[in-house]
Amino acid sequence: MHKDLSQIEGFEISFHEKSKRIINIKIEDQIIERLIFPFKKFDINALEYKPFTRFTIAKSLNDIASGKLNIFFNSILRNRNIGCFIIGPKNVSSKIDKTFLVKLSTSITYLIGNPNHDSMAGKFYARFYVKHEDDSDSYLRKAYTNMDLHTDGTYVKEKTDWLLMSKLEEKNVEGGETALLHLDDWEHLNDLFNDEVGRQNFIWGSPKSKNVDYKVEHPVFSEDKDGNPQISYIDQFPEPKNMEQGLFLQRLSDSLEESKNKIIIPLPVGNAIIANNYFWLHGRKPFKENKNLSRELLRIRGSFFNN
Ligand SMILES: [Fe+2]
Repeated sequence: MHKDLSQIEGFEISFHEKSKRIINIKIEDQIIERLIFPFKKFDINALEYKPFTRFTIAKSLNDIASGKLNIFFNSILRNRNIGCFIIGPKNVSSKIDKTFLVKLSTSITYLIGNPNHDSMAGKFYARFYVKHEDDSDSYLRKAYTNMDLHTDGTYVKEKTDWLLMSKLEEKNVEGGETALLHLDDWEHLNDLFNDEVGRQNFIWGSPKSKNVDYKVEHPVFSEDKDGNPQISYIDQFPEPKNMEQGLFLQRLSDSLEESKNKIIIPLPVGNAIIANNYFWLHGRKPFKENKNLSRELLRIRGSFFNN
């Protein structure tokens, strides 16, 4: 795999310093330069209103990357031992503004699969701020609370094979690092995966701000076609039916949070994390208190083109 990595001209590709399970991709200036023109062809409104334009800019990105980026991204995300990459410009410049980053994230995802409609934002992506003050109804925007390890899409009907989290802006931020855990690195996997309760159907709801007016039912653990464990879990949204389910979720939550194998990453502005949503869990450490703290994020979740 590593040999393949270094062969895309204009991209610096390596294993992440914190984990061999994460590929780090730095986009060199020459590629950024060549993206400016095709990205200018459509404004954000066009991307939102005309889905086919997203394929057009994704094709531009792929063409500029020797036509190899789509295969490369997919091979990373489908590789059980890896399943995650971080991508961003090698050098920060004034050309890389938020609009550019929205287009870059859009292009990346359209080489992987179709994004789900994000009900919170009413679009194929969601942009949101984390600030000092918050009156929302979930941990997403609560700066000073740990956001526990979880997967996305637990309470929606759509398949959520992968997710992208991109950092658009950050001011006065200390802490708030991304926490990641690969299921196979989790010390308690066998214990919990083999517990019969984890295979029972749980009910999953969501608070008002998510704009999802139904509930779904599914187990916490399942298996992929090769028998590998998969998880679909978030602490806030399952509605345990009985004591047995309640205590199982408590044990699951505790043993995820106490894992020593979490990877803590300070994601630089302009970078995006893309991860397989079946065997990577993600979360966020609390921020250090600061009245002027501000972080803007973009997220896109979706399914693979070829399942
Ligand atoms: Fe999430």
